[in-house]
Amino acid sequence: MITYNKENHSFHLHTKSTSYVFFVNERKHLQHVYYGAKIKDIKNLKDFIPQYEFELGTSVSYSEEDKGYMLNYTLLEQSTYGKGDYRNPMLHLELPSGSRTTDFKYESHQECLNLHFEGMPQVRKQSTLEVKLVDVKAKVDLYLYYTVLEEEDVIVRNTKLVNRNEEKIVIDKALSMQLDVLNKEYQLLKLDGAWIRERNISIHNLTKGIVTIDSKQGNSSNSHNPFLLLKEPTTNEAYGNAIGMALVYSGNFEANVEINSHDFVRMNMGINGFDFRYPLASGEEFITPEVLMSFSDTGMSSVSNHFHDAINHHIISPNFKEKERPILVNNWEATYFDFNRKKLLAIAKKAKKLGIELFCLDDGWFSRRNDDFSSLGDWYYNKKKLPSGVKGICEKINKLGLDFGIWVEPEMVNQDSDLYRDHPEWAIQVPGRNPALGRNQMILDLSNPKVREYLKVTLYTLFSSANIKYVKWDMNRNISDVFSSHLDQQSQGKFHHLFILGLYDILEYLTKEFPDILFESCASGGNRFDLGMAYYMPQTWTSDNTDAYERVHIQEGTSMCYPLSMISNHVSGDRAHQTLRHTPLESRFNVAAFGVLGYELDLSKLTKFDFEVIKRQIVFYKEHRTLLQFGTLKRLSSIRDKNYSIWQVMNKEKDEALILYFQDKVRPNPGFSTIKMDQLQEGTYTITNRPQYMNIRVTGSLVNHVLPVKLKVNGGLLNMVANRYLYKNEEMNKTMTSDQLKNMDLLLFHTFTGTGTNDNVMMLPDYGSRIFHIKKENNTNED
Ligand code: GLA
Repeated sequence: MITYNKENHSFHLHTKSTSYVFFVNERKHLQHVYYGAKIKDIKNLKDFIPQYEFELGTSVSYSEEDKGYMLNYTLLEQSTYGKGDYRNPMLHLELPSGSRTTDFKYESHQECLNLHFEGMPQVRKQSTLEVKLVDVKAKVDLYLYYTVLEEEDVIVRNTKLVNRNEEKIVIDKALSMQLDVLNKEYQLLKLDGAWIRERNISIHNLTKGIVTIDSKQGNSSNSHNPFLLLKEPTTNEAYGNAIGMALVYSGNFEANVEINSHDFVRMNMGINGFDFRYPLASGEEFITPEVLMSFSDTGMSSVSNHFHDAINHHIISPNFKEKERPILVNNWEATYFDFNRKKLLAIAKKAKKLGIELFCLDDGWFSRRNDDFSSLGDWYYNKKKLPSGVKGICEKINKLGLDFGIWVEPEMVNQDSDLYRDHPEWAIQVPGRNPALGRNQMILDLSNPKVREYLKVTLYTLFSSANIKYVKWDMNRNISDVFSSHLDQQSQGKFHHLFILGLYDILEYLTKEFPDILFESCASGGNRFDLGMAYYMPQTWTSDNTDAYERVHIQEGTSMCYPLSMISNHVSGDRAHQTLRHTPLESRFNVAAFGVLGYELDLSKLTKFDFEVIKRQIVFYKEHRTLLQFGTLKRLSSIRDKNYSIWQVMNKEKDEALILYFQDKVRPNPGFSTIKMDQLQEGTYTITNRPQYMNIRVTGSLVNHVLPVKLKVNGGLLNMVANRYLYKNEEMNKTMTSDQLKNMDLLLFHTFTGTGTNDNVMMLPDYGSRIFHIKKENNTNED
């Protein structure tokens, strides 16, 4: 709900449990008052505003009459440079005179319904507050937008600039929002990473100065995700105050947190001001991408849940809104480039028997693509590998009873390709310089409408050539040699943003033409895991790293902002191709199951043991798919602090939950683990664990104490038995009331301690795990 109080000129934005308040001060600046837990009625607003009575030595006062009013020590809704605010500004403009001083003042406001910004990913909105500010001298209008997602406890912000000069102005920086608050010894949580180590959580104490995370890579990057969370030192997953922010954009970004000399904290976020110089012609406007903001006083998991709900309800395409996602098999790690139709069909046949629903044909199906040196850009099928083309293989896969999907990397081109030979000017490069390559490839200039037209036609032809239900859209290198032969000298500083708008233009077109294709975004795993892509593509390939242990870190970090329905996970072979680590097959599944499940190994070569185990995994996933893709996630414990991570997903009715318990390395005699669950609906609950199977090879020479027969360790017979024998782990079957579960906690069986095992002992090797199922019993004693 958005309300305006005429008396004190204040705006109150209320969500279900938060309030955001600001007002127009005497100088007509927008001054921030409050963002936090809901306050229905704020009385005496001015009593809560930090305001100096006198000028501070060496500082600059905004006006002679009111020396205590210094912009550097005022909580502002937007800031510019030039009138005494020395903190990181949200906006920095160069005016026709060459001056960079601007000063925007309130002019008017209105509530807009169903506001939509053309050509950009954004929250699908209902009610938005638009506040118009004007710098009369600069002849520039600035609109601030505040959309309230009441149910989700999220406020969405962005801005629009309009140049009213007769001449052009230059935007040096235009961030989407800022939030000024007073310091409470805040800590900063961010998601840092690299390829195969994406979005690991790091938490820092903040001190005076500026912390910036950004991307200059041309994509939102795996180095830092465009997400930040500010928390008080005592805040944890379940208690305390936290504010999160996430940007709806896929290109270069910056996010800053600054604490100035007097403990004023400023957070801002938006398009990176580095290598951005955007001339705005007379009458032209510039719209910044949106930022989602959420506060909670019940810990970080709640902030995450707000984002998850907002994304699932308002960012994901309505065609896929809360729609269950298929279980797929992808042939990449099974075959890499080395495949033919026979190999693919062998995998697909086994996939069908296992209960898998979709087959995705990955890289290597087109032109002469047998390694990563050639053919990107030439999106026609390789006749040797696919004699009857994409249509032929798709029909065969469909006949087996599976849907068909295909991999593409449309933004890229190899120098060894027909496309590059025909149009070298379409690739990004600086004339006269040798371009730097990444994975042997170059990037197409999406700021050029001709390139976009070519891609639209080519991809339209490909996607309509067969019964394609799913597309994996990859992007495997960062941008370098930034220059567009299509743009004039003055416009080169627009390149990065125009590239991203160009990408969005193509995606707008394709998602409209093919509304039923499920797109999965990918960028060497998670190099572009952001809300901009999520607007067009309901799910994202989380990381090329499928090692279950690494995935716990990656998925835990990713879930800080992104919902399970977006997080695509695969069970791959042993050992992990990225780390050479062995993790149990059941653990690979247990972790991958928290999100959108797939398999990526040569299913045609599974042992009997693996086949039977996977088959049961898929039955379990299908039974609980809604919960695992759309349930409310709580991170109850983290491997960052303890020897285990515990994740819980619960349904909306709060009468069913699944819990993952994932152990790091085995510690001898660790004592008992207990799980403190979130509050369930009142009632009696049955607690079981997912039936899991262990490969008896894990027991080493102890095998002869486990099996009724004696076998030679590492002998052929043991191998044969191990590849077939399903050793069932302990089973839990308990009944507890909701109060017991909440207050007495769920007690797990003790783990194997070297002295013996029976049905009440958890045999958990390194990286072992379990999934527990908690479900309310039907009340049979109803009167
Ligand atoms: C990237 C993706 C992988 C795979 C390969 C194919 O690395 O992340 O999943 O598709 O490209 O080249």
